[in-house]
Amino acid sequence: MTTSATGSSDTGPLTFPEGFLWGAATAAYQIEGAAADDGRGPSIWDTFSRTPGKVRAGHTGDVACDHYHRRSDDVRLMRDLGLAAYRFSVSWPRIQPDGSGPVNPRGLDFYDRLVDELREAGVTPIVTLYHWDLPQSLEDRGGWIARDTAERFADYAAIMHARLGDRVETWTTLNEPWCSAFLGYGCGIHAPGRAEPELGFTAVHHLLLGHGLAVGALRAGGAAKVGITLNLAPVIGDDPVAVSLVDGLQNRIFLDPVLRGEYPADVVERARRFTDWSFVEDGDLETIGRPIDLLGVNYYTPQTVAARPGEPASPVFPGSEGIAFGGADAPKTAMGWAIQPFGLTDLLVRLSRDYPGTPLVITENGAAFDDEVKDGAVHDPDRVSYLDAHLRAAHAAIEQGADLRGYMVWSLMDNFEWAEGYGKRFGVVHVDYTTQRRTPKDSALWYRDVIRRNGL
Ligand code: FCB
Repeated sequence: MTTSATGSSDTGPLTFPEGFLWGAATAAYQIEGAAADDGRGPSIWDTFSRTPGKVRAGHTGDVACDHYHRRSDDVRLMRDLGLAAYRFSVSWPRIQPDGSGPVNPRGLDFYDRLVDELREAGVTPIVTLYHWDLPQSLEDRGGWIARDTAERFADYAAIMHARLGDRVETWTTLNEPWCSAFLGYGCGIHAPGRAEPELGFTAVHHLLLGHGLAVGALRAGGAAKVGITLNLAPVIGDDPVAVSLVDGLQNRIFLDPVLRGEYPADVVERARRFTDWSFVEDGDLETIGRPIDLLGVNYYTPQTVAARPGEPASPVFPGSEGIAFGGADAPKTAMGWAIQPFGLTDLLVRLSRDYPGTPLVITENGAAFDDEVKDGAVHDPDRVSYLDAHLRAAHAAIEQGADLRGYMVWSLMDNFEWAEGYGKRFGVVHVDYTTQRRTPKDSALWYRDVIRRNGL
């Protein structure tokens, strides 16, 4: 056994605090399939994935893991793995096919039954209201560039809470608004595929406004715990200007308004060449800064940056001219993401220091590797070692004072990895997309034991 500088072991046994919540995460468009069943309307991801050249190999979420039809089997799988919690998202276009107005009862029924089955299996449901699948008709009316979308989101949040609030305690408004805004509207890598930096900032604000309005709607309905999930990354580099610019656009542009009720002044200044921020109206920041009960943290890898004169801006970080990204000296996952578990410790400790008072839950962490089924098993030692190292990093953060309450592995099963299609496998359970057969990988069996003993 070796001991790290933080005092936590690199290989020996570790125990997490009593009541630490162990779970797995998925998202509606990535697993459900059944894209036209039971009155579901189209989402921006249906449109985008059907647009030639947008998603690898032309893959779509039409069938995905067929979870919509295999819900009960999948809940049994979760029970067999001993999951204490399951973080899933609701498909807004199943609930309101047009994004506003009439509610589709068959869509609501699906989540109603899912929640009941989870509870019967002893698995706590954690609901995410928006994991990127905006109803297409709302996009046709401007999407997240239109302020009205924020209001419609709050209506939808109220509808969901009215139906599930008697059985669901924990609600997450948005998943990773950074991706929705900067990938979806700022540079077009994700749906809806619009590509103007200014739109990225407008979308940030309307997403956050939608979050704040939804917090209000959920509270009005009596929701017990409300939060948001952000994709955060420590920024590593020697150049303080580059570090603070990227940290501003990746982390603080969301953390500060949600947890302090203000946009960071340096980010506002730097973005003035793209936007005059006139979309921010009186009272918006009070709405956005309404108190929350937990912050969901999605962590995969840090951002490594260096000053390099002449470097063009990264399309995903408007205004990042002269900054080179990447280059970390570390092994990589199949996504090409550097494996740097210490980043998770740094991030959690920083959040607890700079934004004290908000409990943290890791709502996503995991890795894609090129898995193969052999003789009915999937040996994925790289994933086991990724997860082991990141759990040790999370534990080290707790020892240093981070108020971390739980961990959700991404993902329960292989699924539609957005612009990468089905080529990247993040699941602890393997999915054969021809037969829809589920095979728990070694990492799933390992995780089951972690949960059983509440530690490593
Ligand atoms: C996150 C997304 C999630 C999944 C992982 C790999 O950005 O929230 O849906 O695609 O990345």
